[in-house]
Amino acid sequence: MLLDTYGRVATDLRVSLTDRCNLRCTYCMPEEGLQWLAKPELLTDDEIVRLVRIAVSELGVEEVRFTGGEPLLRPGLVGIVERCADLPKRPRLSLTTNGIGLERTAVALRDAGLDRVNVSLDTLDPEVFRKMTRRKRHADVLRGLAAAQEAGLTPVKVNSVLMPGLNDTEAPDLLAWAMDEGYELRFIEQMPLDPQHGWQRDGMITAGDILESLRTRFTLTPEGEEQRGSAPAERWTVDGGPHRVGVIASVTRPFCRACDRTRLTADGQVRTCLFATEESDLRGALRSGAEDGEIAARWRLAMWGKKAGAGIDDPSFVQPDRPMSAIGG
Ligand code: GTP
Ligand code: 5AD
Ligand code: SF4
Repeated sequence: MLLDTYGRVATDLRVSLTDRCNLRCTYCMPEEGLQWLAKPELLTDDEIVRLVRIAVSELGVEEVRFTGGEPLLRPGLVGIVERCADLPKRPRLSLTTNGIGLERTAVALRDAGLDRVNVSLDTLDPEVFRKMTRRKRHADVLRGLAAAQEAGLTPVKVNSVLMPGLNDTEAPDLLAWAMDEGYELRFIEQMPLDPQHGWQRDGMITAGDILESLRTRFTLTPEGEEQRGSAPAERWTVDGGPHRVGVIASVTRPFCRACDRTRLTADGQVRTCLFATEESDLRGALRSGAEDGEIAARWRLAMWGKKAGAGIDDPSFVQPDRPMSAIGG
């Protein structure tokens, strides 16, 4: 079991498969990209599957989410999913992606054993998309979403970050669209994880702003706490249901007390939190011949250092050294 000193148990593993991405969302990375990890630094497919196996069979992990960077850029993705789905205690398997290329891979991913996907899409307007991601790929994302739905990778969730002056007036339109398409929409508060250090507490769109904007067009009824469990999204039913909308308010309404996560970076470091200041090197252990039991012990020890919370809204908050694309979203 992956227990921390606050009594939380991590059953949800997020695995970053690459730090690279084919978009350049302004809140995530600069136009020129970042200093990417070199191939030998990345965990190999075999190393990833081995660590997932240890997490599942020895450490009580029940759900594995592949992230990035953009995980669809990882050549071995389908094989990794297939091997994780074949593990003796099969974990639930999900993917967080920007959707580009999903049109081609959704069926193969489902056949390999992927259960569901979350796709990032911040706007319905191709021109705003181009401004926000610096790439003309809006239509690819829409096609990826449709393919995921068609393949049964459901519920398909859509993640939207609202940025002032860019897409902050779009919340009601995004919700109307998502309900129409049958996607579950969640709005995400922008977090201070960008390498350009552009995040500003005063400028960000808060959960309060988002709800106010949605309520100009919809009636929202909060879901009970018991339905939320450890999910980062608070949810509301829309106009009496059955559709719902979520808000992930990591800054103004953090969910750290119920956090059930542990993370593995693409270069094989355990992080106990997106905002952790320390990492624990499992790649080094793997490559120096450590046995499964020793790796599990290291992972347990790492979790013991997990902090109470991210504390983004605290005056003493310090942004982590690595940007989100390197940590894993
Ligand atoms: P579901 O199981 O489908 O609810 O997935 P999820 O919402 O946990 O995953 P997803 O990858 O879609 O993440 C949605 C947003 O939540 C992203 O912006 C993530 O960066 C953010 N998020 C994920 N994990 C954490 C975390 O540990 N802490 C914080 N503060 N935000 C997180
Ligand atoms: N704050 C909040 N969400 C972010 N994402 C990327 N960077 C940030 C940030 N700084 C989102 C992406 C994607 C999800 C994995 O995280 O838009 O939806
Ligand atoms: Fe790529 Fe995701 Fe960062 Fe956008 S937020 S640049 S899709 S890693």
